Amino acid sequence: MPTQHKIVLGNSQFMPEIPDESIQLMITSPPYPMIKMWDSLFEQKDLQIAILWKSLKEDPQEKTVRDLYETMHLNLEKTWRETYRVLVDGGIACINIGDATRTINHKFRLFPNHSKVIEICLKIGFTLLPYILWKKPTTKPTYKGKGAFLGSGFLPPNAYVTVDCEFILIFRKGNLRIFPKHDKLRYESSFTKKQRDNWFTQIWTIKGSRQTHSQLERRTAAFPEEIAERLIRMFSVKGDTILDPFIGSGTTTKISMLTQRNSIGYEIDQSLLPLLEKRLSIEPINYSLSIITRR
Ligand SMILES: C[S@@+](CC[C@H](N)C(=O)[O-])C[C@H]1O[C@@H](n2cnc3c(N)ncnc32)[C@H](O)[C@@H]1O
Repeated sequence: MPTQHKIVLGNSQFMPEIPDESIQLMITSPPYPMIKMWDSLFEQKDLQIAILWKSLKEDPQEKTVRDLYETMHLNLEKTWRETYRVLVDGGIACINIGDATRTINHKFRLFPNHSKVIEICLKIGFTLLPYILWKKPTTKPTYKGKGAFLGSGFLPPNAYVTVDCEFILIFRKGNLRIFPKHDKLRYESSFTKKQRDNWFTQIWTIKGSRQTHSQLERRTAAFPEEIAERLIRMFSVKGDTILDPFIGSGTTTKISMLTQRNSIGYEIDQSLLPLLEKRLSIEPINYSLSIITRR
């Protein structure tokens, strides 16, 4: 089945390229608020965030920390609202997000990004469905927020539980999707009993892409292809259109091509273009790909 794929190099807070109610599934992994590797991107996208970081450096206040965290989520909220607009009735949104641990103002703490995204998406009107915990088998335990469980070793009480799970939050817009009886594409998209038993459980133990991908893909914090494939096959049928508003290295586009879905992705960082072009030249599948730069 020939499929069509589009990538817009532009900001997904506005998606004028997509008509209302035309997307069946959104899967994505946004930049995670309060994770260092995304600080500069949030600052560039949002002047308010840059101002808050500056004021935190000059005058460290707990209120500024709270405001920073809130403002980063308000920034992502614009994309979640656009997603709601473009999803069909019964469309599903899967958001992969990790919580952040960080020492700020000399205090180590957790920023529970997953609960903030749930709160915001419920406010927008989504229905929350049971979610998945993605457990990464190789993450090391932490001590005082550092990578490894060093020093005080076995002495209570000042060590921390390791953050070794991320969340895959699952939301629905509106009612259940309706299909004609014996819909051909739906039946052709069915999964096996073994797949159902593995996929529809709450804990997925899957290696992170850091262990399996190239340097450039690591820069985008790509999610593993297996995660994209499971979600696409669980929550869409062949011929559907999949949206990823934070496409990074193009994992969602690639797996949409391989599973006979159409797709549209957004990426604000134009320097990823060569990586996207390379990764998405897949033969001999029947698809068309257009990459456009928004002016
Ligand atoms: C966590 S990465 C996504 C990784 C992707 N799942 C993959 O497998 O490669 C988030 C991406 O979103 C992009 N991004 C951040 N804010 C954006 C925005 N407002 N619009 C479009 N892209 C954005 C970043 O440049 C980054 O490449």
